[in-house]
Amino acid sequence: MTVATPNLKLELPPLKLGPLTVDTPVILAPMAGITNRAFRRLCREYGGGLYVTEMVTSRALVERSPESMRIIEHDDDESIRSVQLYGVDPVTVGAAIRILVEEDRADHIDLNFGCPVPKVTRKGGGSALPWKLDLFTAIVQTAVREASKGNVPLTIKMRKGIDDDHLTFLEAGRIARDAGVAAVTLHGRTASQFYSGKADWNAIAELRDALPDVPVLGNGDIWSAEDAVRMVDETGVDGVVIGRGCQGRPWLFADLQAAFEGRDERHRPGLKEVADSVYRHAELLVETFGDEVIALRDIRKHMAWYFKGYVVGGDLRAKLATVPSLEVLRGLLAELDPTAPYPGADAEGPRGRAGTPKKTALPEGWLDGRELNPAQKAIIAAAELDVSGG
Ligand SMILES: Cc1cc2nc3c(=O)[nH]c(=O)nc-3n(C[C@H](O)[C@H](O)[C@H](O)COP(=O)(O)O)c2cc1C
Repeated sequence: MTVATPNLKLELPPLKLGPLTVDTPVILAPMAGITNRAFRRLCREYGGGLYVTEMVTSRALVERSPESMRIIEHDDDESIRSVQLYGVDPVTVGAAIRILVEEDRADHIDLNFGCPVPKVTRKGGGSALPWKLDLFTAIVQTAVREASKGNVPLTIKMRKGIDDDHLTFLEAGRIARDAGVAAVTLHGRTASQFYSGKADWNAIAELRDALPDVPVLGNGDIWSAEDAVRMVDETGVDGVVIGRGCQGRPWLFADLQAAFEGRDERHRPGLKEVADSVYRHAELLVETFGDEVIALRDIRKHMAWYFKGYVVGGDLRAKLATVPSLEVLRGLLAELDPTAPYPGADAEGPRGRAGTPKKTALPEGWLDGRELNPAQKAIIAAAELDVSGG
């Protein structure tokens, strides 16, 4: 069902990323374990925008691990093949980008400097990395240089910093701008916040003001098209990046496109429509993974998001969360009340990861200086070995 909401018109030009034009300046945030080919297709079918892969580590890509090759695959009709890379070493990042560029595997590359996971920051990677200005500069400069050989725009995504006393986003933004990035995305949280509290949209506005000559994209806590419009109004960003808000709601991209075009239709699906989406998502995952067991294991984590706010019995929810096959999924979905309407506010608002703030795990002495010392150089070399999630 589609309903009209009060008109919130937004005059935002298409987003230019080097040679690329994204008509609706809306980006599906890279999310490990979520933004695979199947989920990107579901989202893309609802609206325009740019849809980024899960992150792939540059080392795994250079080694051509089967998982990394799966992550960078795109559907034939993905008009902008966007890939997110994670890396801690300029040489490896450069080599990974050469693979993407020389083998024509990507039209846009994003670098992840936002990962707050302890096993990553403990070794100086992810959101800990921009603190080391020499390393950050070397990685971004190398990445831009390698990507530019194929005229592929290179963007970066980062957090505000490590914690409120160690902010990095303004300096990192300027370094990235000077290196020639095509855009900068800021998630308005520090690493130590993880996903807790509220994203700081003032910091996003501050970055927008500090970098007048490069597109700045805002990320954090957009749960609806109205939130996206408000972020643009309040911060002046050139586009919005949506993570958790579309988990279990790929139709959010239809709402976003409508809002950005000044139309007031919004998707308000009844339970039957949600059930159909879940099934289609599962079928697409089977295609993506080529394995029904893996695909059905993957769809389970989406259940609570899809059915948030809808009337679904506890028993049925539990069965959905352990569904083993497409056939069983069909049977379970058939038990839902197909006449149940969209539940309203209960289906809206925050969803997905939350968590509590926690001191960021860092290599010893990391905060003592802004450049790597020899011991830290050794630690960082190991920072790419076992990474997942952002
Ligand atoms: C499950 C999950 C996986 C994520 N994986 C990545 C990732 O691979 N790369 C990245 O840059 N950010 C990753 N993120 C962070 C998101 O891209 C985004 O910055 C964050 O969720 C804040 O945006 P939101 O409030 O719209 O969710 C991940 C977030 C979640 C919830």
